[in-house]
Amino acid sequence: MQVISISSLKGGVGKTSITLGLASAAWAAGISTLVIDLDPHADTTTGLGIKHDESGRDIGTMLRKPKQHHISEHVVAAGWSDANQPDGQRPGTLHVAKGSAKTSMFEKISTRRRDLNRLATLLDHVDQYDLVLVDCPPALNGITRMAWAASTDVLLVAEPSLFSVAGTERTFRALDLFQREYAPNLKNSAVVVNRVRAASTEHKYRVSEMRRMFGNRLLSIQVPETSNWQQIQGAAWPVHAWPGETATTAGKIFDQLLESLYDVKQPPRRARRT
Ligand SMILES: Nc1ncnc2c1ncn2[C@@H]1O[C@H](COP(=O)(O)OP(=O)(O)O)[C@@H](O)[C@H]1O
Ligand SMILES: [Mg+2]
Repeated sequence: MQVISISSLKGGVGKTSITLGLASAAWAAGISTLVIDLDPHADTTTGLGIKHDESGRDIGTMLRKPKQHHISEHVVAAGWSDANQPDGQRPGTLHVAKGSAKTSMFEKISTRRRDLNRLATLLDHVDQYDLVLVDCPPALNGITRMAWAASTDVLLVAEPSLFSVAGTERTFRALDLFQREYAPNLKNSAVVVNRVRAASTEHKYRVSEMRRMFGNRLLSIQVPETSNWQQIQGAAWPVHAWPGETATTAGKIFDQLLESLYDVKQPPRRARRT
């Protein structure tokens, strides 16, 4: 089972949007997927069409006592089931571990293995999904570190702007240090640039700067600024089922992004934790 965390130090760069785009691509491709919403703001839960009063314990409650919870008993189905599946494809299972403000109790950074491994412990007996997507809060806090410790892959999201590039460099440094000591299953980390405007000279400059800085850790696929993105998110609808050329183009970008991240071969999920 592949566990991909979507992270960044900065808010508003598009973590939730990338998580929802990847979830939509997985849903359209029939890949059995669990989305875990670790941001106390819980935007991903909203974007997946889940009402916050819906049954199922939230992830914050489960993380408090990870050994006592079977995450599969508390996940809920994404509200996307009513959306039309793109032609000829079977719908994939798309489950959600709901986010809530309760997760904020794990913001403080802890170096205790027991704390860092709370999410990994929750996922220990989960094997019915091919893919787990974890949307992180906009900070390198205890919650994000807990996500990294449970992940096989980390996808950083950056915007083509000076501050975002500098923040991404710092995040890679923190991630590499963390990986060595605390994340034995973490195999891949990469950065994707979001909200790119092809005609912008500034954007072109920042993307080439990132290529120099991050080499092949910078994914060649870039997510463009999409005019109706907020409308699609506001409707809590998968981009793959939204009508029109703009959404179709965005959907194809997310197919390619998922393809570049998703390992069909599915490596063994977990090395032994110390
Ligand atoms: N590629 C994009 N095109 C257009 N709008 C975008 C794009 N990515 C993100 N946005 C918008 O930017 C805002 C912040 O994105 P969000 O995904 O919530 O960021 P984060 O989760 O990192 O805080 C949202 O209003 C979202 O709709
Ligand atoms: Mg978010």
